[in-house]
Amino acid sequence: MSRTGELVLASGEGAYVVDESGRRYLDAAAGLWYCNVGHGRREIADAAAEQMRRLAAYSAFGDLATRPALDLAERLSAMAPMADARVFLTSGGSDSVDTAVKLVRRYWAEAGQPERTAIVTRLHAYHGMHLAGTSLAGIQANRDGHGDLDAAVVQVEWDDSAALEDVLDARDDVAAFFCEPVIGAGGVYAPPPGYLREVRELCRRHDVLFVADEVITGYGRVGSMFGSDRWHLEPDVILTAKGITSGYVPLGAVLVSWRVAEPFWVDRGSPVIWRHGYTYSAHATACAVAMANLDIVEREGLVARVDGLQHDLGRALGPLAAYDAVSEVRAGVGLLGAVEFTPDAVSEGMPPRVIAGLRERGVLTRTLASGAIQVSPSFVVSERDIAGIAIALEETLTSLGAVRTTTQRSDVASLSGASLLSDPATGERAVAFDDRHYADQRPPHH
Ligand SMILES: Cc1ncc(COP(=O)(O)O)c(C=O)c1O
Repeated sequence: MSRTGELVLASGEGAYVVDESGRRYLDAAAGLWYCNVGHGRREIADAAAEQMRRLAAYSAFGDLATRPALDLAERLSAMAPMADARVFLTSGGSDSVDTAVKLVRRYWAEAGQPERTAIVTRLHAYHGMHLAGTSLAGIQANRDGHGDLDAAVVQVEWDDSAALEDVLDARDDVAAFFCEPVIGAGGVYAPPPGYLREVRELCRRHDVLFVADEVITGYGRVGSMFGSDRWHLEPDVILTAKGITSGYVPLGAVLVSWRVAEPFWVDRGSPVIWRHGYTYSAHATACAVAMANLDIVEREGLVARVDGLQHDLGRALGPLAAYDAVSEVRAGVGLLGAVEFTPDAVSEGMPPRVIAGLRERGVLTRTLASGAIQVSPSFVVSERDIAGIAIALEETLTSLGAVRTTTQRSDVASLSGASLLSDPATGERAVAFDDRHYADQRPPHH
């Protein structure tokens, strides 16, 4: 802790980070959902250093390119769950969102339907902090106080395909539906059974472009390379960032189906030039880092690892729903979880106190928009550490006066379809707590 109160982080290794005083924390958030391969990967640092020594960056405008940018674009095109994908590289998720909003509108302008400018988004949606993403946000607090936002944005319930159908039936000016396969920052909401299939089909039927915002879910976090693979979405556009470099340097990528790319594709004789691009689009060092990061993801089988660990996370967090202060636990789909509090517990200030209590116990994370606790560790986290997060949560809740009810609550989200809960009366646990969390205990920070 610094003199002005910040927790100053100094280093990291695997699923852990260390502060300036040498205290170690299990990073239960993977930074901001990005550090998929874990901290301290020398191989990634070496890739960055090597590229920087050779040529750190160069403009990718016009006919200019660098080898890492071309290699990465080829690799992403081959990985993308859409035929003949094209790649537009950005500096992060909000850039990717902005790019996609402009791209889908421009696409329709080129396709002879310039009236198609409306974008449909979902309640709880988070699409970054640029002006376009702020307009798309389904988190009201993030929209407030910025003057008039984009008027051509329509919001629908997050879990009801009929709500989308009503909008698409009523309007013929819709350009695209933006959809996080699993809503992340808005609270970790996995799609209800059938929801994604239904909305995908509705978009096809109404010829509305389907944009999957996979800034969190991309590159493995839901146990498949993309959420679009897991739910067979075949989107028209996929937005990515975060896990593309595991956050070692900023980078984003928009994966574009051939249908949407074609009007702008100069190689094939298109006269249209889309006047869009960023200074650091296709940044050579960022692309070299992404290549090294994806090498690790593939070589170490980390996506399959997430596929297995998601059940551990669901089983570990599920029993927390037995606490009276907890209204719902959402976990079991990917390495993504949220522990939601009752309105009373929120108004009594429970969320920040839980964060502080977790920190005292050596677990670092944060609250989401509603006050829910975010749980999204790196893909190299161990089963024991996942159990450790749950135990630290239990101990914190108990220390703050929350009480376990003996009857199992019915509102526990068993999202993977499996029964995730151990008996709350016995508190049976699958694995022991990793007592390294308790090493070097210091006085509470708060
Ligand atoms: C789904 C989604 N879209 C877009 C963004 C914005 O990404 P960035 O913060 O890199 O601009 C985020 C960031 O958390 C996100 O979760």
